[in-house]
Amino acid sequence: MISVAIDGPAGAGKSSIAKLAAAELGYIYIDTGALYRSIGLFCINQSLDIHDKNAVVSALDKMEINIIFNDQEQRVILNDKDVSDEIRTEEVSRTASVVSAIPEVRAFLLSLQRGFAEKNNVIMDGRDIGTVVLPQAQVKIFLTASPEERAARRTKQLEEKGITADYNQILKDIIERDYNDSHRETAPLKPASDSVIVDTTNLSFEQSVAQITELIKESAE
Ligand code: DC
Repeated sequence: MISVAIDGPAGAGKSSIAKLAAAELGYIYIDTGALYRSIGLFCINQSLDIHDKNAVVSALDKMEINIIFNDQEQRVILNDKDVSDEIRTEEVSRTASVVSAIPEVRAFLLSLQRGFAEKNNVIMDGRDIGTVVLPQAQVKIFLTASPEERAARRTKQLEEKGITADYNQILKDIIERDYNDSHRETAPLKPASDSVIVDTTNLSFEQSVAQITELIKESAE
């Protein structure tokens, strides 16, 4: 089995790039951020205080999270409900960033993530895939772009959907999330020592997909 780990900060384009590369290579694409988001959503729905670690850890017993594939597309199921669309809000992003710093939350999701890589060729994207989840991955990529470029892309994306977007607020959120994700004690966001760093600040989307696909083909053979 071949495992490709793609890690990097929020908004670097990991999921859109990995999705296309996986389709081209015939691998399964897994977005692990969606799992942390589902836990965030559960906490919001239950009005839990996410800064109360014990409350969040106790709530894990009440969560059953699964991934299914619908025409190659990943869907996340939280307690028998498909929450794939609901987890895409900024509020869920912020909550996921906080709860993902709790070691028990990370441990809770570990076997689910590893299980997919045991049975399939996968491209898995997240923050700690190359360092913790799949340290044996044959290909490790750390995908990044400047915070300003990531905020500009996110603003454009929202505006294209007809949603009003505030570039400065988005930039502030990105910087805060980068800080949280890279300064937590457990599995902080950082490039694995054997990863290839790809900076997409000055690359178009098509160039990024081509570069990643090429890297995987070269390293996985
Ligand atoms: O990739 P994303 O923005 O959907 O991730 C949501 C949050 O989950 C993000 O703030 C960091 C966290 N996360 C993580 O800690 N480890 C992962 N493997 C994936 C996401």
